Amino acid sequence: MAETDVAEFTSIERGQLMRWFSGHPVCRFWFRGMTDGVDVFGYVTNADQNIEEIELRLEGKPLNDVVSYVWHGLEDPEHDPDPTGFRVLRWWPRVTGFSFNTHIPYSIFKDAGEGKKAVRLDITNKCGELVCAQSQSAYLPTEDINAHLACVSPPKILMNRVMGVSEDAEWILTGCTNMNVISQIAEEVVGKPLGAMGPLLEWGSGCGRLSRHLIRAGMDVTGIDIDGGAVTWCNDHLASSSKRARFLQCGLQPPTELPSNSFGVGIGISVITHLDEPSGDAWLAELARLLRPGGIMLLTTHGLNTFSHVSDPQIFRKLQAGGMYSQRSSHLDSLLGDGQEYYRETFHSWKYIHEHWSKWFEVLDIRRGAHMGFQDLVVMRKIGGVAR
Ligand SMILES: C[S@@+](CC[C@H](N)C(=O)[O-])C[C@H]1O[C@@H](n2cnc3c(N)ncnc32)[C@H](O)[C@@H]1O
Repeated sequence: MAETDVAEFTSIERGQLMRWFSGHPVCRFWFRGMTDGVDVFGYVTNADQNIEEIELRLEGKPLNDVVSYVWHGLEDPEHDPDPTGFRVLRWWPRVTGFSFNTHIPYSIFKDAGEGKKAVRLDITNKCGELVCAQSQSAYLPTEDINAHLACVSPPKILMNRVMGVSEDAEWILTGCTNMNVISQIAEEVVGKPLGAMGPLLEWGSGCGRLSRHLIRAGMDVTGIDIDGGAVTWCNDHLASSSKRARFLQCGLQPPTELPSNSFGVGIGISVITHLDEPSGDAWLAELARLLRPGGIMLLTTHGLNTFSHVSDPQIFRKLQAGGMYSQRSSHLDSLLGDGQEYYRETFHSWKYIHEHWSKWFEVLDIRRGAHMGFQDLVVMRKIGGVAR
């Protein structure tokens, strides 16, 4: 995302941006694996509350000892709280935040039933009250993490292509966390967990970061992806352990060869975030065709938390004007080979999603930051019929 001078935002625009973030601390975290536990690091920034009043709590206990520094936005240019190098809330002159880095022993993850363990990270005030709907739980598979890490992971080059990093612990923990958070939200919104919704389509399955956990949970999984190498790896290493899983390569544009009305539920993590409007629309129509009447579609989108990294006023203005914005991304271009510009960085406003996607889906809910504090999760039902 392009860096431009913060002065290019008008004061009216800055006021609008501040209202967007008002009352919504942004928290992101990352994992690095260790033998006895996991290193968790990240940041919290807050708009209109004194950051000194905000705490990060691990299983209810304040993480005071892990605050590595308090950050004072533009007045503190040396300290960028986001370790991935993005500048956070650049246009907010007096925003504050803190970064954190802590070690969580696997022993404190609690049994959360159905083959998983969980630990909660909450953003609270000093009294321990939640100040952000987007508190996060991290989930581990119940098996000893080392046994899990020792089981075959995709080649680093494939991991990098879908996630931008190639850390085994990040791979296992984010995949397991995504599955459990998405399933929990689906149950809250639709009344059923993922496993009870019928055959599952993972659109843009990559090299199985999510689907390996869906398969282990016994679900009937079809993954489709444009990346033939990732599809082959998933078939060789994930589908071989289950008669109910398969991975298929699809074209850049639909249709797929899959029959209509085949799936009870579809998931697409960080896929529509890479498509321009014509490709996105064509794929939404295709996903609706593949779902059974009343089937549920769960898609992640770039939302406000992602927008906290945007410092280009043009993106803001185009989003305001049209509700969606898609730009070329030089770091994504090379993924599909030289000269390919299919891969984009795309934002959709909630208003746009409610209005434009209603051609194919009824939007039931949008959960801010549900995908690792970074992307939103849109929960939708295919128009026509009732979910079975
Ligand atoms: C950022 S990665 C996310 C992968 C996976 N969903 C995950 O969360 O680990 C995006 C994935 O979408 C795939 N992809 C991009 N456009 C696609 C399309 N039109 N249809 C299917 N897959 C697509 C890419 O090849 C890549 O594997």
